[in-house]
Amino acid sequence: MKIIKVKNQVEGGQVGARIFQEALQNKAQVFGLATGSTPISIYDAIAKSDMDFSDKISINLDEYKGLSGDHNQSYRHFMQEHLFNEKPFKKSYVPDGLNPDGFAESDRYDAILDEFPRDLQILGLGQNGHIGFNEPGTSFESTTHEVDLTESTIEANARFFDDQNDVPRQAYSMGIKSIMSAKQILMVAYGENKAQAVQAMIEGPVTEKVPASVLQKHDNVIVILDEAAASKLNQ
Ligand code: GLP
Repeated sequence: MKIIKVKNQVEGGQVGARIFQEALQNKAQVFGLATGSTPISIYDAIAKSDMDFSDKISINLDEYKGLSGDHNQSYRHFMQEHLFNEKPFKKSYVPDGLNPDGFAESDRYDAILDEFPRDLQILGLGQNGHIGFNEPGTSFESTTHEVDLTESTIEANARFFDDQNDVPRQAYSMGIKSIMSAKQILMVAYGENKAQAVQAMIEGPVTEKVPASVLQKHDNVIVILDEAAASKLNQ
């Protein structure tokens, strides 16, 4: 893993956008995208740049089950607001939160992932080490699946909803095997509340108890951290 330490999220955004730029120069066609507060500064920097994605494909990591794409807390809506309005892609895939059939939706999404192998996948990190919505205990062999969110994730995400009871209890997420099949992975984490998960991800054992630790097995990972997120690293 190549670790890049940055002063703050603005600098992290610039570094992250540069990695997107390099991927474009290397003829990347398919970009795996993520939601959450972490990637926002990267999307902001991309939005202000002259990068053009109008003939590229994007595939998002996950979506809440039960929310339509135009619900203001859906991940489709998030992407529209933070990136796609400024930088439209030729085609942007996000799981369909309104598909009630978890198996059908997972198969549909896996077929999309097979058709469009990702050149670059951006990831945020859950406080418990989750990636996408792959909570601790998820098999490293998992493909797209329906997830029951943990209480800690529901609590962490409640800040975006009017009421904690409005946070969906389930989601569709790319699996860990799907995430690992991207050619390059850009993991980003900021803040002290991620420091423990960052330490476990980089220096701990590779274990399904810490989904992000699987990244130690990928040969092309860049990690962007601010000082607080890097504060528990020994190296
Ligand atoms: C959610 C998303 C993850 C994201 C994580 C961290 O649970 N499913 O993809 O990485 O939250 O979010 P944040 O970047 O807001 O800390």
